[in-house]
Amino acid sequence: MRPNGIVIAIDGPAGVGKSTVGKLVASRLGYSFISTGKMYRALAWKALELGLGLEDEGALVDLAEALKWAFPKGEGPEAGISLDGRRLELELTDEAVSRASSGIAKLAGVRLFMLGMQRQAGRAGGMVMEGRDIGTNVFPDAELKVYLDASPEARARRRVGQLKAQGTEADYSGILDFIIKRDAQDSGRKNNPLRKADDAHYLDSTEMPREKVVESIVELYKRLGESGK
Ligand code: DC
Repeated sequence: MRPNGIVIAIDGPAGVGKSTVGKLVASRLGYSFISTGKMYRALAWKALELGLGLEDEGALVDLAEALKWAFPKGEGPEAGISLDGRRLELELTDEAVSRASSGIAKLAGVRLFMLGMQRQAGRAGGMVMEGRDIGTNVFPDAELKVYLDASPEARARRRVGQLKAQGTEADYSGILDFIIKRDAQDSGRKNNPLRKADDAHYLDSTEMPREKVVESIVELYKRLGESGK
């Protein structure tokens, strides 16, 4: 038993809405929320800033270990992320950072470093954590695991919608291409690739509105309580 509640692991491909859904589920349950992708993005951002080679595993691990990582409490269920006292927000959404984060996430040493931080953050429970390997590797003992999926086309359409809503130009076919490449990179790597844990619930959100996805996960959580877990 964990003192603060259970761990809910949400995994799935890029752009499927894991963060939006995860935050809403966490709010409903009074849980905390962590997007582990932001940890990879933060390290990638710093490496780009320093001009480090993105294949240089030793240098990246040294950098990760030398940095002062902090996860300050935010307004909602999600903690912020800061490196050496600098709070990172918009920097992490940059396309170059997205690409670099997917690249450095292939490296075993980088993953091991992240694993330690992630286990530490979720150990006490009361946590919704999303990423690619939460149910398979970070918390194989998570009490509730969800694999959230949607077709690449649906994810690209949603991304175009988000960008347009922000008043940003969006090119559907470029975005679709980017999503397909990132899926291949995240699923095809040797170390902890994106894959559904055997005991994860599979939710295909291609045709499902966000609220329905949130409702389904909250329902799974309640059922867990009823089965006495
Ligand atoms: O979820 P995201 O797009 O913010 O993640 C950025 C990259 O980090 C993604 O391409 C793959 C990697 N990642 C990972 O390998 N394992 C995780 N648990 C989370 C993210």
